[in-house]
Amino acid sequence: PASAAWSDAGRLSVGGVDLHDLASEFGTPAYVFDVAEFRNRAAQLVDGLTARWPNSQVLFASKALPTVATYALAAHCGLGIDVSGQGEIVMALAAGVDPKLLYFHGNAKTTEELTFAVRSGVGTIVIDNADELDRLLAIPAPGQHVLIRVIPGVAPETHPSQSTGGSDSKFGVPYDQAHAMTEKIRSSEMVFDGVHLHIGSQILHAAPFGEAVRQLAEFPGCAVYDVGGGLGVPYTYAEQPPSIDAYLDAIVTAARDTLPADAKLIIEPGRSLVAIAGLTLYTVVSVKRTGRTFVAVDGGMADNLDPALTQQRYEAVIAQDRPDAPLVQCDLVGRQCESGDKLIGDLELAGPQIGDLVAMPVTGAYAYTLANNYNGARKAPVVFVEDGTTQLVVRRETYDDLLSTQLGWRP
Ligand code: LLP
Repeated sequence: PASAAWSDAGRLSVGGVDLHDLASEFGTPAYVFDVAEFRNRAAQLVDGLTARWPNSQVLFASKALPTVATYALAAHCGLGIDVSGQGEIVMALAAGVDPKLLYFHGNAKTTEELTFAVRSGVGTIVIDNADELDRLLAIPAPGQHVLIRVIPGVAPETHPSQSTGGSDSKFGVPYDQAHAMTEKIRSSEMVFDGVHLHIGSQILHAAPFGEAVRQLAEFPGCAVYDVGGGLGVPYTYAEQPPSIDAYLDAIVTAARDTLPADAKLIIEPGRSLVAIAGLTLYTVVSVKRTGRTFVAVDGGMADNLDPALTQQRYEAVIAQDRPDAPLVQCDLVGRQCESGDKLIGDLELAGPQIGDLVAMPVTGAYAYTLANNYNGARKAPVVFVEDGTTQLVVRRETYDDLLSTQLGWRP
């Protein structure tokens, strides 16, 4: 994050908080989240989109970092919220978010979830398929605002697990089915607002977003057009995503060409709102030299599945500057029992030693949310930092938490 700084004593701080102090207080592994970075990015997106297309809304794709605190922060920053699943709705409501601001996504929403959403006053349900529409009609849901998710033909260059465009996608319906569904909705008591699509994630070019708008426009006469999320972030020095301005320009230029002037334009960034604001702190447990050098830390794929899931490359540094230490070529590995539990391969660290604090930046998105209890790992805490102060917003799980769902077995 922009607030990351080295002190005169060579110690790394974020949001004005010394990371060694933070690690002493909250332990490691820990997710650190720079609130000011989030506020800045939210403001750039909201102000930038509103300036270009006044009838618009930015939704936080909350799957990227679903904590009660981030729901509250997002709403505080003027964002609506994309929720997928009753669990995310429950957390948003616990955060005090107005349910009208929620957009309910998902390709396999159960009847129970749909009923819960309708009764909770969730503003918009994004219908993924014809079965879902039939179940909504049976609830019933008079006055419920809905969008239909369509399958775009846009397949941007990204990892296969992050691409949701293309005709073999499990998300959404082809345009002909969407048209048939629209007729059904229009003859019901529900309110058809428009169409949604999402072309994929970690997209490093602006052009596919303009293309996505053009695809939406093939569905004429809607009140709402939702372009989804997907703007990429720089995990490494080599990755250069478009700026927020270039991204918004691509979207709004296409919108001016193709969408009705009075339509509402929605975007749903997740990663680009939270990734850079977050970093993960680890403590080095072992430095092993075989043919290679393995720097093993006290976390791993239990707190960040992304390197194993999408082969995303990250950077990391030791939070203590050692200008004179020789750089060591090593693999930064986790503690879970999988060879694939490698956080970063072929990394250079300055004289890594047992007990060192390691900071892995750009882990604010899809790390906490994919955390798991592999090998009995307790999920790590989330600590907000801002203006030199800390706020623990998710505590570390305890071993009692792990046992709390376990009912045991009696022979
Ligand atoms: N809207 C919808 C309907 C989505 O499915 C997603 C992300 C977003 C918005 C937000 O996309 P973003 O701006 O964050 O790219 N597991 C992968 C990422 C999966 C993204 C899922 N959908 C990963 O760890 O990289």
